[in-house]
Amino acid sequence: MTDIRVTVKPLSGTLGAQIDGVDLSGGLSNQEFVQIRDAFHRYSMIVFRDQDLTPEQHIAFAQRWGTININRFFRPVDGHPQIAEVRKEPDQQRNIGSGWHTDHSYDQVPALGSILYARIVPDFGGDTLFASMYLAYEALSDGMKDMLSGLKAVHGSEQSFGVSVASKSEGFATGRYQNADKATQQAVHPVVVTHPATGRKALYVNPEFTVRFDGWTQEESEPLLDFLYQHASQPHFTCRLSWARGSLAMWDNRCTWHCALNDYHGQRRLMHRITIDGEPLHPQSDGLVEQHNHTIKTMLTKII
Ligand code: SIN
Repeated sequence: MTDIRVTVKPLSGTLGAQIDGVDLSGGLSNQEFVQIRDAFHRYSMIVFRDQDLTPEQHIAFAQRWGTININRFFRPVDGHPQIAEVRKEPDQQRNIGSGWHTDHSYDQVPALGSILYARIVPDFGGDTLFASMYLAYEALSDGMKDMLSGLKAVHGSEQSFGVSVASKSEGFATGRYQNADKATQQAVHPVVVTHPATGRKALYVNPEFTVRFDGWTQEESEPLLDFLYQHASQPHFTCRLSWARGSLAMWDNRCTWHCALNDYHGQRRLMHRITIDGEPLHPQSDGLVEQHNHTIKTMLTKII
């Protein structure tokens, strides 16, 4: 039986959809969850409005998707290490996440997605932009696609959260970031990945965390990476999300970038973010979608 309460309305022709008819505070039926998961895979970013959630309810929603990844660099919400605080105070200049990026691409196993809940929003500004890495990939020439298909890239967190930047960083000075000494790990991922659930190919490099192509120097990598960044951030691959208090958005880190606009100086913005563990990313899809569907079915059978 179809649950007619859940409605899905696209936010743009690129990515993003608003889901109405769902109260996330009460837990979700399996049927609702399947509808939401399908929309997430189809639109890469989904948003729910007017949600009134405690941290425990936010965590419970996140746990429907997988294991929570505890962020080592963001200050956690008091008493809730699973939730990272994304805060900017009226006297602060820099916000968190202002450059285009993909959360946690520096992890060996990159994140599935992130779930951001708006607790305090400014009177104006503070929107988040998203870009579709499916569309960016699909718009490349066949020659470029062929070349990228054999490449891997090194991702790291040192340049954003490491010791070399900590002493100059307002984020560290204000206690919003922590653990600079833990920003030493690097990870290598394919430059083009096949999404484990949709089977679509997506570009998987980003300006914040990608350091270079694997086996290339940084100088050799820069021109091609710069081209890809210019290409992928074109407005026609993007969608803009305006927040209101109680909005909760979830995005797919395997096929999107996002950046938080810093255009609300003198005002407070406070968001709570939970990131969900993903699975290793591969360039090819052989059997991947089937395997993924099997895993989801097994998961749902256990829940039912
Ligand atoms: C983030 O980069 O995860 C934060 C995005 C936002 O605050 O809009």
